[in-house]
Amino acid sequence: MPALQSLSLSPADWWNHAVLYQIYPRSFADSNGDGIGDIPGIISKLPHIADLGVDALWLSPFYTSPQKDAGYDVADYCNVDPIFGSLSDAEKLIETAHEYGLRIIVDVVPNHSSDQHPWFQKALAAKPGSRERARYMFREGKGVAGDLPPNNWESVFGGPAWTRVAELDGSPGPWYLHLFDASQPDFEWKNPEVWELFRSVLTFWLDRGVDGFRVDVAHGLIKAEGLPDEEKLHHPPLGNNGPFWDQEGVHAVYQEWRKILESYGPDKMLCAEAWVMPLAKMAHYVRSDEMHQAFNFGYLATSFEAEALRSIINESLAAFGGVGSPSTWVLSNHDVVRHATRLGTDFVSQGQPTGIGPRSPEKPDALLGLRKARAATALMLALPGSAYLYQGEELGLPEVIDIPDDRRKDPTFFRTHGERYGRDGCRVPIPWEAGAPAYGFNTTGESWLPQPQAFAELARDNQVGDPDSTLELYRSLLRFRNQEGLGKGSLVWLDGFSSDVVAFANGSVSVVSNTGEQPTARPDGEVLVTTTALGDEMIPAHTTVWIKTA
Ligand code: GLC
Ligand code: CA
Repeated sequence: MPALQSLSLSPADWWNHAVLYQIYPRSFADSNGDGIGDIPGIISKLPHIADLGVDALWLSPFYTSPQKDAGYDVADYCNVDPIFGSLSDAEKLIETAHEYGLRIIVDVVPNHSSDQHPWFQKALAAKPGSRERARYMFREGKGVAGDLPPNNWESVFGGPAWTRVAELDGSPGPWYLHLFDASQPDFEWKNPEVWELFRSVLTFWLDRGVDGFRVDVAHGLIKAEGLPDEEKLHHPPLGNNGPFWDQEGVHAVYQEWRKILESYGPDKMLCAEAWVMPLAKMAHYVRSDEMHQAFNFGYLATSFEAEALRSIINESLAAFGGVGSPSTWVLSNHDVVRHATRLGTDFVSQGQPTGIGPRSPEKPDALLGLRKARAATALMLALPGSAYLYQGEELGLPEVIDIPDDRRKDPTFFRTHGERYGRDGCRVPIPWEAGAPAYGFNTTGESWLPQPQAFAELARDNQVGDPDSTLELYRSLLRFRNQEGLGKGSLVWLDGFSSDVVAFANGSVSVVSNTGEQPTARPDGEVLVTTTALGDEMIPAHTTVWIKTA
């Protein structure tokens, strides 16, 4: 365990090659036993995160919120929800993370607030045409009585993206836009007051020492002039089709934010959640005067197949390299089916997924999924640039499929009347100790989503010290990644392998991923890491090896 105070923080452009570990506070560690993870819980587990070998943390929202969308519905951007702790707990977390040598970035949610935000409450109480209403996107309805929504936009979570309000005297009023749940009204980003609000949110957290922000729905803030109907030819849940995604005007926001960050020093960063394809368009968000990085969702959505992988890696290096930024890499987060399950099915992940549940057609193969996930992670962590890990993937956690309908929480499930399961399956509280209540998530056994029995075997304490475990695999990968400088390195494709193989050199490490069913020949050299046991001179199916060549 690293000693407190003894670590120094990485250099100013740390994000370019960092491994960031995403903590989803509700499901990480619960200190008071109410079944919901909290900040004191996170602080108590920081030694384990430092020990894993990552460079930084990203925390999903812990702000004051009615939790209609698990905290992405913010009622006060500058305070902590009591279920997660207090503002001083958050300050202590930032300080303690730094003492462990971990940078820490937090979420900022600028596209929408909660309907419980004082601004929205005031807007509801105010008159049409008032200053209070002008902070959100209120519009008159269509039809003679205005009882049809202003346009045909749909919520990402299903159902219409508009909800009608009643005026104070009870008469029917205008509609407000919500690209997500009805409890998440979209801000009007043409209003300077909204710009001012978010300036103050950024400085509030920068003043408390955060190292940067993950920007939620970064591609959604500005909507097309006149709010035209969407052409519903292609509608990937979070793609860039549609008059509400990736409008040119969003970039001015991040150009200003970058200046705010720079006024705090050269080591503060912004990461875009922008589901924008192709990557060359996503790369606009990380031009030298905007954000510092963007989640590479093109990579996340790629299956574990050699040709597809080579092509997305080339596309990523070209797109982000083209704007002078290393790429990021990511396989899992709190919105998608965990990759240990995804790679064991034909499930195609695109944006906010339909999820997998008991009635889904996909019947994932758990063993194959985990085997491919280990190989996929080893490939990812060898790539130059920065990588994001999602809590629990280091334990090889699968998506939890058997969540009873009456325990589900994702608004997607309710807004689609159960047609789409949504994201609860990747958000189940993670297991720390096989034999403890709630597998060590707390001491009472409470858990806001039910944990499956399979978590016993995968609990952290069962994996520590077992060289075949996924936890020890991650630790080795991160150790060698650091030691060999892979994040700062560069990629040279290696020839002479079968078409099912992805092979490249990064410095003096050769990385060979056999994505196929047949064993393939292994190059000479010392094996640093392998994702499945090696019997002979071959690399087995669905296996990645790192080989030291010089
Ligand atoms: C982002 C978040 C997701 C949330 C949505 C609305 O996509 O990652 O969890 O539901 O934005 O804020
Ligand atoms: Ca708690």
